[in-house]
Amino acid sequence: AARYDFVIAANRLPVDRVVGEDGQVEWHRSPGGLVTAMESVMSGRDGVWVGWAGEPGEAPEPFDEAGMRLHPVPLSEDEIQGYYEGFSNDTLWPIYHDVIVPAQFHRKWWHQYREVNERFAKTLAEVAEEGATVWVHDYQLQLVPAFLRQLRPDLRIGWFDHIPFPPVELFGQLPWRQGILEGLLGADFLGFQRPGDAENFLRACRRYLGMTVKGDVIHVGKATGGHDVRAAAVPISVDFSSMDELSRRPEIKKRAKEIRESLGNPSALLLGIDRLDYTKGIRHRLKAYEELLKDGSLDGADTTFIQIATPSRERIDAYIDLREHVEGAVGRINGNYSAIGSPAMEYLHQGYGREELAALFLAADVMVVTPLRDGMNLVAKEYISCRHDNGGALLLSEFTGAAEELREAFMVNPHDVIGLKRTIMDAINSSPQERSRRMKALRRRVRRNDVQHWASAFLDALEAAPHKPSRHG
Ligand code: G6P
Repeated sequence: AARYDFVIAANRLPVDRVVGEDGQVEWHRSPGGLVTAMESVMSGRDGVWVGWAGEPGEAPEPFDEAGMRLHPVPLSEDEIQGYYEGFSNDTLWPIYHDVIVPAQFHRKWWHQYREVNERFAKTLAEVAEEGATVWVHDYQLQLVPAFLRQLRPDLRIGWFDHIPFPPVELFGQLPWRQGILEGLLGADFLGFQRPGDAENFLRACRRYLGMTVKGDVIHVGKATGGHDVRAAAVPISVDFSSMDELSRRPEIKKRAKEIRESLGNPSALLLGIDRLDYTKGIRHRLKAYEELLKDGSLDGADTTFIQIATPSRERIDAYIDLREHVEGAVGRINGNYSAIGSPAMEYLHQGYGREELAALFLAADVMVVTPLRDGMNLVAKEYISCRHDNGGALLLSEFTGAAEELREAFMVNPHDVIGLKRTIMDAINSSPQERSRRMKALRRRVRRNDVQHWASAFLDALEAAPHKPSRHG
């Protein structure tokens, strides 16, 4: 079988399976930012992406798509329920996002998580060339580094955490905390979104494994491989120049104008774009918006809030409940405050392509980003990348990774309804001068720290990590 010197592992492959009208299976490149980022890293390398193809049962044979070699890993229906929906998204996801909803603990899920992680590691061991670099992504695959190091000590292994790493008090609730830490410590370099996430991880290693940490390096004893692991922040970003370029196209500008017209040219257009996930604070923003309409600060016939809520993890209870709540709130808001041809809300439970998103970004006066906890939030950075006119205001939750960099945004604590309402009004009423001053500064940052910058920073750190058994082993 073919072997590669650069290997990416993520829960999902970067493509979506689409069945055409003629019944033919087609693979379409997924719209996410990670895919764009990795495409550029892959180009000029001999690389392969290992991941789940999104369907239960037997995996398709490896194939080429989106300019890369794709190597599917199979998941049974039972494993989708236990490893993916269960342990990844109903145990780890809530714990890593400050327990906005209670986490579920089930031993069976943990076993399935281990098994699937081991399967990923075995596949990686088969496709990686001698001395290859393997980049593992996210919380679904935290045990892969150690399984893989055992099978292939010659590989250079990096892992990047796209979501927050929780404080020890929360992480410590996991009955399997030790196993997870040991799994991660199979890597040479661990990348996190914020310095605080890396610190949380290092603290957990001290507390639950009794390890010695020097600066940002942990020494792993001989019994478990005898090597040093570095943990540091490498915040992810977006492809600034391609979004910027896209948003300057005449057809996108035209579409942005059309969107406003179709809503009756509201004097304020607010926009939220999120996966329909309880971490995103959609309920909180709707509550604030509804109160502003109710107390007359905003007029529903002259204001529209577009909420794009991309369907996500639809079989998990917490997501089903959220959808009901949000759709109830949207119906109530429209029922009470819309006028014919001028909706107070436009709610779409659908995913959109980059062109339509760019037009929406350009059309919006205020981008509303209110997560209760978020590793980074790339939507905020995409909005900035599209505002080549230096217009628009970004309202941003201080509980996002993005808030550490995007200082010039209108910052909010989404739990503080009064503050949230006030800041929404401040953003709506801000002068063009004020918006432009903030947006220029934001654009400078994102342009400088774009996704290419992120990928090279990660790979440089991985390359520089002391790979071979350490001296003090
Ligand atoms: C977050 C996670 C990703 C995940 C994405 C979509 O951004 O960090 O790892 O792929 O959500 O969620 P899904 O469960 O559909 O893959």
